[in-house]
Amino acid sequence: MSAVPITPEPTEITEPAVTEAVDAALAAIAAAGDSTALRAARAAHAAEASPLAKLNALMRTVPNNQKAAAGKLVGQARAQVGQALTAREAEILAAEAEARLKAEAVDVTAAASTWQAGARHPISLLQDRIADVFVGMGWEIAEGPELESEWFNFDALNFDEDHPARAMQDTFFTEPTSAHLVLRTHTSPVQLRALLSRELPVYVVAPGRVYRTDELDATHTPVFHQTEGIAIDKGLTMAHLRGTLDHFVKSLFGDEATVRLRPNYFPFTEPSAELDFWHPTFKGGARWIEWGGCGMVNANVLRSAGIDPEVYSGFAFGVGIDRALMFRNDVKDMHDIVEGDIRFSQQYGMAV
Ligand code: PHE
Repeated sequence: MSAVPITPEPTEITEPAVTEAVDAALAAIAAAGDSTALRAARAAHAAEASPLAKLNALMRTVPNNQKAAAGKLVGQARAQVGQALTAREAEILAAEAEARLKAEAVDVTAAASTWQAGARHPISLLQDRIADVFVGMGWEIAEGPELESEWFNFDALNFDEDHPARAMQDTFFTEPTSAHLVLRTHTSPVQLRALLSRELPVYVVAPGRVYRTDELDATHTPVFHQTEGIAIDKGLTMAHLRGTLDHFVKSLFGDEATVRLRPNYFPFTEPSAELDFWHPTFKGGARWIEWGGCGMVNANVLRSAGIDPEVYSGFAFGVGIDRALMFRNDVKDMHDIVEGDIRFSQQYGMAV
């Protein structure tokens, strides 16, 4: 902001006084670099208290015969300063607008800064999809703890005291052993938990993580996933099990898939079976694929849950999710499933 030069107050309208006021005004206007400075110049040189305004005020003291000349002198001076202000204002506004545009300019050719979205793991997607098949039939979803009591994991499921599955090489036992807690070796303990916490009839699927002391290699991992199913009602038979599994594999693998049950042994089902299904178009050609275990829930398990096996019966099954992802979605190496590289998950998008 330029200071108003201190000159003696004019007492009459003279040409030098007018010229001096105009020159000072034009200099201040020319020196104003932005609209704030120009506003100050206008206040100092064109507003009420400015030298030109004061000269104008002296008009009343001018003798009548000189009024026209003095009026012309001051009028032209004020007009000149007014024009200079208008012209400079236009320049400054244009310059400021240009500076603003430059500052706000967007380079439309610049590479976009992308935000890397995460992805859901295909194991979770497949578990959800399986749960949806059963929810669609009116089943409920149940959960149980991964750190499970030995009683739920083994005893209540009719495992003998010396069943080999309890041995150290299969099961992760935890300290102190007196607490009898294990990392659950299968989702079957949720069968018992579901029966103890619900009214009959029970139709439940339980997806979850399970643990066994296997080394990680291309086809094994010590932490893997199963989905358990259990149905207890009056009059359920092996035919219901078979029909349910048939619908299940068709929903997940296509209408060409069919189920085969091969006799097997599990302590908690009787009779028990291996669950295989036939698929005509998988990579590698038509073949039977071993997928899980199943059977009619053992009467001893029903008794553990306080259910009368003379009145109620039912079936259960358990399938491996990691294995299903391998043969269904053509994953060749278990390492890809467990290593957590986001690019692996991103291949699947939102659905498997
Ligand atoms: N829990 C068994 C396993 O992990 C599978 C199974 C579940 C078998 C339910 C029968 C009934 O191998």
